[in-house]
Amino acid sequence: MDYVIEMLNIRKEFGNFVANDNITLQIKKGEIHALLGENGAGKSTLMNVLFGLYQPEAGEIRVKGKPVKITDPNVANDLGIGMVHQHFMLVDVFTVTENIILGKEVTKGGRIDIKKAEEEVRRISEQYGLAVDPQAKIYDISVGMQQRVEILKTLYRGAEILIFDEPTAVLTPQEITELIQIMKTLIKEGKSIILITHKLKEIMEVADRCTVIRKGKGIGTVNVSETNPNKLARMMVGHDVVFSVEKKPAQPKQDCLVVKDLVVKDARGLTAVNGLDLTVRAGEIVGIAGIDGNGQSEFIEAITGLRKAESGSVRINGKEILNHKPRKIIESSVAHIPQDRHKHGLVLNFPIGENMVLENYYQEPYSKHGILNFKEIYKQAKRLIDEFDVRTPSEFALARALSGGNQQKAIIGREVDRNPDLLIAAQPTRGLDVGAIEFIHKRLIEQRDHGKAVLLVSFELDEIMSVSDRIAVIYEGKIVAVVDPTETDEQELGLLMAGSSRKEAGVDV
Ligand SMILES: Nc1ncnc2c1ncn2[C@@H]1O[C@H](COP(=O)(O)OP(=O)(O)OP(=O)(O)O)[C@@H](O)[C@H]1O
Ligand SMILES: [Mg+2]
Repeated sequence: MDYVIEMLNIRKEFGNFVANDNITLQIKKGEIHALLGENGAGKSTLMNVLFGLYQPEAGEIRVKGKPVKITDPNVANDLGIGMVHQHFMLVDVFTVTENIILGKEVTKGGRIDIKKAEEEVRRISEQYGLAVDPQAKIYDISVGMQQRVEILKTLYRGAEILIFDEPTAVLTPQEITELIQIMKTLIKEGKSIILITHKLKEIMEVADRCTVIRKGKGIGTVNVSETNPNKLARMMVGHDVVFSVEKKPAQPKQDCLVVKDLVVKDARGLTAVNGLDLTVRAGEIVGIAGIDGNGQSEFIEAITGLRKAESGSVRINGKEILNHKPRKIIESSVAHIPQDRHKHGLVLNFPIGENMVLENYYQEPYSKHGILNFKEIYKQAKRLIDEFDVRTPSEFALARALSGGNQQKAIIGREVDRNPDLLIAAQPTRGLDVGAIEFIHKRLIEQRDHGKAVLLVSFELDEIMSVSDRIAVIYEGKIVAVVDPTETDEQELGLLMAGSSRKEAGVDV
């Protein structure tokens, strides 16, 4: 059999912890090979070994049948292996081309030949249908475009095998469709792809084969045409997974969050939230549905104090909090699961244990007379880690060392446990495995059943439809419709999200 890549019995340890325990992964030329496993199973670690970021303790890697030692990413590049990381590594103020040639500059008489590089970038972009403008500045382009720049960067360096680590976790549904098309083009042009994703639907749609790992061990490799989402989920977690969300009808009480005529500008000074009205009552989950870029991020940032609002009113339990400091808003019984977990959720260089009290470390019992009580802090951390199944070597491990999904579970645990009157959850299940998603949905519903108000923002329409009691559709910075999830469908929501009026979309006004 012709394998382009073989990873044979790979073992990777971090101290006493075995992240990869004799895993074997074999990639055929021209296939899309999915790598599936729970949060913390060891997927990113295995790919970091292949890309030369980690050295394995044991095992062998072969490229086109030849044993190789991949001592660093440059060696990986030379062997035709490219990686698109989940967190992009681009320089914001540089252009697309400047980012792509960084470290691989074409020179002419000692000077960088940017024109030549631009032409090359344009050529590759056209060949693979990437539609990237070589002269655009990174800060001016969308997340989806930035990801394409990362793809271009690997192709520019001659990658034959592309590793995608959860590429769709950061994308909107429209961008996902486009990325899938790009992956298919890459395969047609003779590339091979390793795809990490938690979305079983995506595996079913694009992958040829799928290798499943569980708790650091290889479970098996299957042909996607011979499996289904239920079987894959069972292989992954070791038992059946329930995909539907069970909940009783909501029993909403008094108003908790009341937003009136809110106006917020975006980073470029353009109006992003444009006279938004919304009410979330105690005991209900309101889901915000909308296409990315319609003001949802600015809205959440404004009501949590992370961004200044121009005008309007935001009341929580009757108290005005517009433009208050984040800490003051938090103290008004608000918890926030932020969209960007690295920027607003965690201090990556702090132990995960200390991250569990980021918002209340200065209060008793975690602190007394200005002195931190680490015993209490770590006791609380240990409890949350157990309860939310945060898989970490210990509560003393740096947040940075946790897998992406486990960082997310830690933040959710911390925020839900504060038991706030209002829980704001922005893309809460991004990057989580199917089991963890089920658990988080249950906890959101539990908060609701305890009489709390929950505001959920998600690009996943499935999630919005199954978890929310009411769905508010945001379009161009306004709530344009509020619908009952039992009386709508994805198609109608899609129309509303695209700006059709409720009448056009068939909703009774
Ligand atoms: N640098 C490190 N130091 C210590 N432990 C680490 C390090 N990197 C990863 N780990 C541990 O190895 C395990 C596997 O992590 P990895 O990131 O490979 O998981 P993953 O399968 O990619 O999960 P996710 O789906 O959440 O991204 C985790 O328990 C993690 O805490
Ligand atoms: Mg990972």
